[in-house]
Amino acid sequence: MGGDARFRGNCAPQVYEWLIRQSGARSLIDPCFGSGTSLDVALRLGLDAQGSDLSVGAYHQGVASRLRARGAQVRLGLDASAPGWPGHFRAADLVVAHPAYGTQLAYHARPRQVTRGFVLNSMDLRK
Ligand SMILES: C[S@@+](CC[C@H](N)C(=O)[O-])C[C@H]1O[C@@H](n2cnc3c(N)ncnc32)[C@H](O)[C@@H]1O
Repeated sequence: MGGDARFRGNCAPQVYEWLIRQSGARSLIDPCFGSGTSLDVALRLGLDAQGSDLSVGAYHQGVASRLRARGAQVRLGLDASAPGWPGHFRAADLVVAHPAYGTQLAYHARPRQVTRGFVLNSMDLRK
């Protein structure tokens, strides 16, 4: 279980569970957490879970509250394509990114959403 199947772009929790078990990661960051699937799975498996999303809308605020209540560190309004993005997080074993879909699905009108053609370019979290 994890995330919200009604959220457009939701990812199957089994994908994240497989990645976590295969990698042996004890900590995870998702820079585009959406409905929170990756972080739900990470928390269920006992990982240190951190994440962010560009959106500051009511839906994502609800997701963030749910994740924080379970112990995750999450931030809203952070642009994962910005050079300073990694500085908001502790180092982690595993970074999973399921960014927005090309031009098929616009999540919101914010100009930095990856749907608009920006790419994630700052994924090196080594401190
Ligand atoms: C495909 S959804 C993620 C779905 C998630 N894996 C799930 O299972 O619910 C993509 C998310 O990326 C976010 N996003 C788009 N551009 C972004 C950016 N530049 N930085 C951070 N998040 C971004 C959107 O707000 C949206 O919530």
